[in-house]
Amino acid sequence: MGIGKGFFVYSQKHQNLENSLAPNYFFHYLCLNTMLDTITSSHIPTNQNTNVPALGLGVWKSKPKECYAAVEAALRFGYRHIDSAAIYGNESSVGEAIRDSGIPRSDVFVVTKLWNADQGYKEALAAMDRSLEKLGMDYVDMYLIHFPVTGKRLDSWKALEKIKESGKAKSIGVSNFMVSHLEELIKETSILPAMNQVEFHPFLNDTKLFDYCRSKGILLEAYSPLAHGKKLEDPKVTAMAEKYGKTNAQILIRWSLQKGNVVIPKSVNPNRIAENGTVFDFSISEADMKEMDSWNENYRTCWDPSDVL
Ligand SMILES: NC(=O)c1ccc[n+]([C@@H]2O[C@H](COP(=O)([O-])OP(=O)(O)OC[C@H]3O[C@@H](n4cnc5c(N)ncnc54)[C@H](OP(=O)(O)O)[C@@H]3O)[C@@H](O)[C@H]2O)c1
Repeated sequence: MGIGKGFFVYSQKHQNLENSLAPNYFFHYLCLNTMLDTITSSHIPTNQNTNVPALGLGVWKSKPKECYAAVEAALRFGYRHIDSAAIYGNESSVGEAIRDSGIPRSDVFVVTKLWNADQGYKEALAAMDRSLEKLGMDYVDMYLIHFPVTGKRLDSWKALEKIKESGKAKSIGVSNFMVSHLEELIKETSILPAMNQVEFHPFLNDTKLFDYCRSKGILLEAYSPLAHGKKLEDPKVTAMAEKYGKTNAQILIRWSLQKGNVVIPKSVNPNRIAENGTVFDFSISEADMKEMDSWNENYRTCWDPSDVL
């Protein structure tokens, strides 16, 4: 499919407008429908005074060399947000590809995550330093607790608060936290997470968690937006894609973006990376958004944190 030149244009004017209205999460939702956004310009404000590019590249399961090439291709296409994690074993490739791109560090939003085995106060502080060393950076834009490990997550969060204070992470958040985990965190600690990265797609449309995050001003970041590739051939997705003249992957990504989520599809294929980024030139009608909302079947492809105490 053709890639318009406009996708490479950085819309500074539009970004400033968004900044001036921050933190108005609903503004982004409406704004996305105006189709002024591009992959590079579309940002969502967090409750911690940072702006997250709405679409990022996921790098889970990308082997180091593939990861370098994927990040390189994504940055060339206009992506400015890379989602990594210590456990993915590819932080060095992410850092190297960003450095080699020549794009200023400050223009790329880099996320990494604290792995379960490194949870606890002192352990988390040390893990952040190891991740920074591998990335070859002196800060990340977002540091997330990867999973709500029982008995450890509150101490880990206190370490993340310290990390934020030190400037090693511009913002901090969580991943795989359900409502009960968020309620506990909010009660016991002092900084509200900027973001909660969870599995989210039309087949796992957890409205309770979505509404809770929205009510607290916590951004929901949709991981596995293509259901890890397992729902791409679903006939409902195909019919919807045909209706809009888009691909199945684009329909799934656009649905999540249009709900106001940050979205991080993964691919190591440059054509698919471009395809997944070409989602700012159309919008799904309100009726079709509702139709897609109704596809929920609580279908999980990754781990299930619901029963974690
Ligand atoms: N916090 C967490 O616990 C957690 C858990 C899971 C994921 N994540 C994050 O979310 C990211 C995305 O999730 P994910 O990797 O599970 O799955 P995903 O993005 O839903 O799907 C990725 C799969 O779809 C394929 N694919 C990508 N674009 C495609 C296209 N346009 N057409 C056809 N196939 C396509 C990919 O293969 P190719 O690479 O061969 O194109 C890969 O097999 C991860 O990389 C990671 O950064 C976080």
